[in-house]
Amino acid sequence: MSYQIAIDGPAGAGKSTVARAVAKKLGYIYVDTGAMYRAMALYLLRLHISSADADRISEASRDAVINIAYENGVQQVFLNGENVTAYLRTEEVGNMASASSVNPDVRRKLVELQQDLAARENVVMDGRDIGTCVLPDADVKVYLTATPACRAKRRYDELTAKGERCDLDAIETDIRERDERDTNREFSPLRQADDAVLIDSSDLTIEQVIERILALCR
Ligand code: DC
Repeated sequence: MSYQIAIDGPAGAGKSTVARAVAKKLGYIYVDTGAMYRAMALYLLRLHISSADADRISEASRDAVINIAYENGVQQVFLNGENVTAYLRTEEVGNMASASSVNPDVRRKLVELQQDLAARENVVMDGRDIGTCVLPDADVKVYLTATPACRAKRRYDELTAKGERCDLDAIETDIRERDERDTNREFSPLRQADDAVLIDSSDLTIEQVIERILALCR
């Protein structure tokens, strides 16, 4: 049986940084499920499909072939054969991913892919519904969160470091709206699994969060 670590929580809580580090430490693969929803969003944006057009999203999602591969341990996302990893971390793609991930056809397709991966390999998987829906029997479940202001500041620092110009208040507004959508959607909403351990990272360093999760695994 493969070993499964599920890390869920809202945008900007530090899930990917922490999950990547835990995976490296344990020699497991890190599965960033948000990147799969982002690849689907990129596909829809390229087709100029509106985030409100559920029928066209359902239909188009059938033709999107999304695959994951690892190069030097780093996840690469392929969309219909093209490596699109470099295009996924923009606010435009993130907002479309938040909107299109409410679609049950999109979710069914990507959840299947995630479950296939986790059946074959030891994984640290992060997302919104991993502990509740994708891997309900995961060995360790963590719900990682932080205040919206704190998450906005982290996203701001991340974008600024990459040389992107951005506005802190606009980012916080975006984060609150995305939380609202992610927690209130009908299918697989963001919520803490009953058996998940809550970690609030607002006043913790990345190292402290990593250490807590490793302690849970031990
Ligand atoms: O974690 P992220 O910002 O890369 O995720 C982008 C969007 O994808 C997010 O708004 C919600 C959605 N998502 C999801 O619905 N389920 C997941 N397991 C992961 C992400």
